[in-house]
Parts: sequence; structure tokens; C-alpha cells
Amino acid sequence: MKNRLPRVLGEIKEKGNYRTIRYVKPLSTTRILYESKEYLNLCSNSYLSLHDHPYLVRAAQKALDVYGAGTCSSRSVSGSIDLYKVLEEEIAAYKGYHKGLIFSTGYMANMAIVATLTGEDDIIFSDSLNHSSLIDSMRLSRAKKVVFRHKDMNDLEEKIKKEDSKGTRFVITESVFSMDGDVAPIDDIIGFKEKYGVHIILDDAHGTGVFGEKGRGGEEIFGFSGKMDVQMATFGKAFGSFGAFVVGDEIVIDYLVNRARTFMYTTGLPPSSLGASIAAVRLVRDNISFKDELWENIGYMRSHLKAAGFDLKESEGPIIPIVVGDDSKTIKMQEMLMEKGLFIQAIRPPTVPRGTSRLRLTVVRGLAKDEMEYAVAVLIDVGREMRLI
Ligand SMILES: Cc1ncc(COP(=O)(O)O)c(C=O)c1O
Repeated sequence: MKNRLPRVLGEIKEKGNYRTIRYVKPLSTTRILYESKEYLNLCSNSYLSLHDHPYLVRAAQKALDVYGAGTCSSRSVSGSIDLYKVLEEEIAAYKGYHKGLIFSTGYMANMAIVATLTGEDDIIFSDSLNHSSLIDSMRLSRAKKVVFRHKDMNDLEEKIKKEDSKGTRFVITESVFSMDGDVAPIDDIIGFKEKYGVHIILDDAHGTGVFGEKGRGGEEIFGFSGKMDVQMATFGKAFGSFGAFVVGDEIVIDYLVNRARTFMYTTGLPPSSLGASIAAVRLVRDNISFKDELWENIGYMRSHLKAAGFDLKESEGPIIPIVVGDDSKTIKMQEMLMEKGLFIQAIRPPTVPRGTSRLRLTVVRGLAKDEMEYAVAVLIDVGREMRLI
């Protein structure tokens, strides 16, 4: 270990992929303090800017007062306080599914669903850009794994036709891809469910609260709800809180309760997170205006960046990838933006494929018009200097 760790760290540095932790302090919904300098935060996943909304904060405080700071045991032991039941019922109803199950993080939810629900006679067809948590979970699964080209439905169909199985065939995809911000053709995948009997596992982490008429997520874009075999999403993004959920049929949830190791062998969420998540679900469900305000900001940022000549790829919502390509050049651009007060993170391999390093810009509801004007002006200046536009 003594030799390997410094060697590998040295290699990471050489490739321009070295990461350090940036400790920040929030100053307002959209501004943060980092090393004594104020920045506009353009990389938060709090799309609806609910993380500091008084309704959520008060709900978290109330839960703290009533239940204390922690649940202090696994959910299967005594950690399933009654707030879980409220949240599970409300999120399942909101999403149009029979039952819900809360996990401590989205990572753990994904580790549970793929590894636990798929077995050795099964085949998994996975989009090539699926999130690391889905990939890690597939590594634990005994099913055969087949990767299809990102959103390429011809490739998926060919592979489904070629790969028959004694068990179940699963298609796994994100609804809105976390690093590219583009939307999966969920309607076509539903077609394959009808045509070939495949089961669908959908990760709606970046769709929930943002997409669809009522903000119910990726499925709702295509006019569906409740059609997936299993769907997961997190409370840590548009809902502004922490934790995650899986929704599906009773049997799926029952199986997870009995078999999912990331459910069984970990302490339950703190009551304050559950209280905040319940408040968030109610707020988002009952106030479509939050989502509409977010989309106004998305429209502003996208139209101005596009008009300036940025290639925003196929992204559609609050996630805007500005692909630079080269790792060191991406870091350079990030530093130039930081210099001018924009807090944006460079996303490099292994998070994204080699040669596609990028700045991942996110638009949130709380951005004020003058903040967006400033951000666009800086991005254009720096984009020109870097010869991206
Ligand atoms: C697509 C996707 N799935 C799952 C996760 C994991 O969620 P969490 O941050 O709650 O662990 C994330 C985010 O980090 C994500 O982007």
C-alpha cells in the first residue's frame, strides 16, 4: 500500500484528474463562500432551490424536536420511525406507484435494486452512460450484463433480440442523464416492454420535481406514470433534502425489505431529513409554480448560451454540459471561471468518458436575473478565450 498509493496519486495528477475537497459555506440560496471569496454557485443539484426554503427548514426542526437527532438503528431493527411511513406513502402516491421504500442515499437505493432484484438467469441491458451507482450495483449482480450505446434504441433492440434468457431481461436507464442532461427515450423503452416483455428499472434522480407537467419526473414527459417495474429517485436534488426512494409493486418492495443489504445493514436516516423530505414532496406536489419558475431560468440560460454559440449537445433541462474535451484545458477553464466568481466544477474521467471532460453547469430556480446575466457574460468571455465559441 505504501508504494501503490503515492504512485497511483501521482498518475492521477499527471493526467490532470487530481481532486481535492473544497470546503464551502452557504451565504444565500445561490451564493457560497470559499476560501474567503464569494461565488455564485452554478453546480448545485437543488434545482428548485428548496434546500433552504423555510417550509423545509421548519419541518426539519420540528422533526428534530419530536424525534431527536438520529434513529440510531437499522430500519429493520427500531430505526423505522413513523415519518418513514408517511413519506413512503406520499412519494408512492405522487409517483403513481403502489408502494415506496426509503433508502439512506440514492447510491444505496441503486446498489439495492440492481444487485438484489436481478438473478443469475437474468440479463441486464444498461445504457453506456448510466450512473456509477448503477454500474457498481451491476458488478454485484449475477445477471449477464449487456451495455447498449447511449440512448441508441436500434442498438438496444438488436441486443434484446439477440440475447434470450431463461429468466427476466431488464433494461436499466436514467431518465435524465446526470452528466449530459439529455433525456432517455422512455416511450421507446416502454414499447420494448410491450414487444419483448423486458422489465424496466428507471433512475429518475434528475427528472423528479423538474420534468413533466406536474414535476413528477422523466416518465411524465411522455405522458406516463407508474409504468416502470422499478423506479428510484433521490431527495437530495430537486427536493432539497437528503435520502432516496424506490417505488414499485408490493412484491418488489417486500423483496427489497427482505433482501437488500443496503437497506438492512445501515442506520436509518435522521428524522430531520425525513421531516424535510415530507415537506418537500408536499411543496412540489402542490406548487407547480416552483417548477415553472425553474424552467423560466432554464430558458434564459439556454437561449443566451446557445445564441453565443455554445454547443449544449442534446441536454434539455437544468443540467448544461459544456464539453471541453481535454482534462487540463477543462481545469484551466474552471479556474478562469472561478477567478471571475463562478463556482463550477470540472467533471473528468472516470465520471465521464475519456476525451469528454466538461464543465457541468446547473440552473436553479433561485438564480436572480442579474446573477444569470453575469454568469452568461462571464461564460461568453471565458468561452471565447478558450476558443469554444
Ligand atoms: C443518476 C443518479 N443516480 C443516483 C445518484 C445517487 O444519489 P445520492 O446522491 O442520493 O446517493 C446520483 C447522484 O449522485 C445520480 O446522479
